[in-house]
Amino acid sequence: HVLGIDLGTSAVKVVAVNKAGEVVQQASRPFDLYQEKSGYSEQNPEQWVEQTIAAIHEIQGVLGKDSIEGLSFSGQMHGLVLLDANNEPLRHAILWNDTRTTEECRQIERALGDRLIEIAKNKALEGFTLPKLLWVKNHEPHLYEKAVRFVLPKDYVRYRLTGQLQCEYSDAAGTLLLNVRDKSWSKEIADAVEVSLSLCPPLVESGDCVGNILPEMAELTGLATETKVFAGGADNACGALGAGIIENGKSMCSIGTSGVLLSYHNEEKRDFKGLLHDFNHAEKDSWYSMGVTLAAGDSLSWFKNQFAENYSFDELLLDASQLDAGANGLLFTPYIMGERTPYADANIRGSFIGISSTHGRAHFARAVVEGITYSLKDSLTLMMDNGMEINEIVSIGGGAKSEWWLQLQADIFQKRVVRLKSEQGPALGAAMLAAVGAGWFSSLQECAKAFVAIEKAYEPNEEVAAVHEKVYELYRMIYDSTQKIND
Ligand code: XUL
Repeated sequence: HVLGIDLGTSAVKVVAVNKAGEVVQQASRPFDLYQEKSGYSEQNPEQWVEQTIAAIHEIQGVLGKDSIEGLSFSGQMHGLVLLDANNEPLRHAILWNDTRTTEECRQIERALGDRLIEIAKNKALEGFTLPKLLWVKNHEPHLYEKAVRFVLPKDYVRYRLTGQLQCEYSDAAGTLLLNVRDKSWSKEIADAVEVSLSLCPPLVESGDCVGNILPEMAELTGLATETKVFAGGADNACGALGAGIIENGKSMCSIGTSGVLLSYHNEEKRDFKGLLHDFNHAEKDSWYSMGVTLAAGDSLSWFKNQFAENYSFDELLLDASQLDAGANGLLFTPYIMGERTPYADANIRGSFIGISSTHGRAHFARAVVEGITYSLKDSLTLMMDNGMEINEIVSIGGGAKSEWWLQLQADIFQKRVVRLKSEQGPALGAAMLAAVGAGWFSSLQECAKAFVAIEKAYEPNEEVAAVHEKVYELYRMIYDSTQKIND
């Protein structure tokens, strides 16, 4: 077996996978979240380590000591773990969804101008690591003074298991300190914002074997000391691996609380000019572009909780599915928490447009689901406008649980949308890195053939797609028209 360890935001999930790609055991342990002030979001790295040990131990108890050949990681991106000279955390980790760093983002933009996107391929957003590092420098200089290194969340847990401290490219890409195409830490960025490059850990590939299990950790987890540890990847990169997104033309649409539209590419010269995220993939020398809808499933939960409390999601979707495309003229934009792609606008708010006395709850539910899907189409449109050819979209998450929503995705995206047989998410991607590392397969592509199976495909219906195309044109006008109201 191999283990895939997904260090998420709410919990760690560990899966044990066999050579057929079947998950034979899994265990999960939750994390506490500290939100001392509005916009703050922190976790205790020690708890990540303890809970990961506990989850591995649970699995080991069932499978036995020598049954694990290798393990690897997937992790929540961007979080800052700041270490002192003894590699001990100086403070709680500041997480990806912490938004205290707006001023630091402006500081980075002022210092670097266009060079930031040319080098780091991404805009300065509050969630990323460098703004957090600058926040500590600006607000907690007594801690910053003692800082010798930073690492990303899963890289810290891996360090504690192996004693080896590194960062791999897919997570380094989310720091804003990496030259994403050259794959080196950027001295130009570090110098411009006056942070020392020595704070950046050594870089490795996601599939690299970085060491074995320390004896004291072997004792605590039940793993053999010889178990090979592979570096792992960012959760979005591992989620893409786990959905088989490792060739040109393949995309993934994940609708959970937030929504992600992600596409593989291996073209060094591709340039999205910061309109989409552009991160190193967990496969060597490849990348993925990604757009984010902040409130995807969250918009539907909000609607249900506020206006349809006594209905289940299934009932709401069933009622919505009885109506025609376009919800009889009712449009919704899901900007209830601001929007990331394509607007990077934290202040915009959502709208219902075109309300008529003939509309009822089902129209509103349908408009919400369509609006979420139009927002994800915005990311797809940016990719296609950039010349990317997309043949197939693997749909995962809550949006893939409804046949009707899957068909709606095919009709709105005007692409073949497929659903997977079994959906294990980023933990499976992490297990794939370990499976290839352990020598089970010659490449991630070969591994995907064995591990990732498609259950059903949904082809766009041309007539319905044409209706959505028209409605989507109107949807695109709403942002500009409502932006000023929210300023
Ligand atoms: C990506 C991002 C999130 C985290 C969640 O930019 O902020 O998807 O990776 O763990």
